Amino acid sequence: MANMQLTSEENEMLAGAQGRATQKAMQILVALGNIYGAERMIPASSVQIAGVSYDNLGEAGLQFLSEMADGGGSARVLTTLNPSGMDIENWPALGIQPDFAEKQMRVLEAFSRMGVTTTCTCTPYLIGNLPQFGEHLAWSESSAVCYANSIIGARTNREGGPSALAASLTGRTPEYGLHLTENRFPAVTFQVNANLVENNDFGALGKVIGEKIEASKAIPYILGVQSATLENLKSFCASLATYGGAALFHMPGITPEATLFTPPGERITISQADLESAKASLNDAAEGQVDFVSLGCPHLTIHEISRIAQLLEGRQVKKEFWITTARPTKHIADRLGYTRIIEEAGAKFAADTCCVVAPIQGRFTALATDSAKACYYAYAKNKLKTRFLPFDEVVRLALQ
Ligand code: F3S
Repeated sequence: MANMQLTSEENEMLAGAQGRATQKAMQILVALGNIYGAERMIPASSVQIAGVSYDNLGEAGLQFLSEMADGGGSARVLTTLNPSGMDIENWPALGIQPDFAEKQMRVLEAFSRMGVTTTCTCTPYLIGNLPQFGEHLAWSESSAVCYANSIIGARTNREGGPSALAASLTGRTPEYGLHLTENRFPAVTFQVNANLVENNDFGALGKVIGEKIEASKAIPYILGVQSATLENLKSFCASLATYGGAALFHMPGITPEATLFTPPGERITISQADLESAKASLNDAAEGQVDFVSLGCPHLTIHEISRIAQLLEGRQVKKEFWITTARPTKHIADRLGYTRIIEEAGAKFAADTCCVVAPIQGRFTALATDSAKACYYAYAKNKLKTRFLPFDEVVRLALQ
């Protein structure tokens, strides 16, 4: 069946000797490997599965997961989940309907039966699924894939939900694409001559570069960025992956593999005006139209939550305001008193979920956020207008 060279254990999995789910998983990986010309499987040391919201999965997805769990599927490596369609504890306060909640819980229960860690976050690297340089992974959240490849120097392709699950149940992934050194070379240099401070500056940069490489999928080598915080980088990765389909970039002084390469000859300059025009394109809502505010795309760090608490303390928000983060990060916020301050101000924690994967269609007119990725999906999925602002200004808008 396979053109790939499989080990005896992998052949055993393929033949069904290790159960139905493992067999199905190996069939998926072999099919993928053959399509992309992989010669063999390699061990995957960590998995991140996207496509967890029932809003995206639907009944067919839930059925597939239930069948894999019934078939004895069991995670062989650390496996974490992307955001689900709701906060698992606080869903009624977010306006989620009980029938959706019941189906979402069945999705999570199927993953749980397979031994998957149901942490439901797109920033697994903040909550214990933190790979090391050079490790081979099978991740399927595009922003986290870009972060793992670029910022950490681990190696993963942009998996789909089923292929990531298949990697989890077998501990293998086909060796092609970004697992191979020859496919990690940069192809185009970007010289950035612009002021980058806020998350939305980096989001705008991701949009500008992303749109320039979207067709060619050339790996960018980015010059001129002097410094960037973790929060800036997660924002940039999300945007570059959304607008360019990128899974890897190199940035001297910031990403670990940049020193291995010289800047490619093809050179594109990015100016301050390019960034301003990208921001303007994501600001089609008037301030008065905003009825939904959300921070945490990708999920917030505890540092960002502390800043929100500082800005909200003793005040009252006037709009629906979602704080989206990982459940373990929310637990830290609980212990540090940030949750109480934020909830007393009338904002809502939306742990385990986000404003893109939750079923909010038809509920709002315009979203304010600091995330270029959230702006893209707010329109593409829910037809919302957007205000794209620096982090602190998003909080201030929620108070008006
Ligand atoms: Fe994460 Fe949802 Fe944004 S999954 S990257 S918060 S769209």
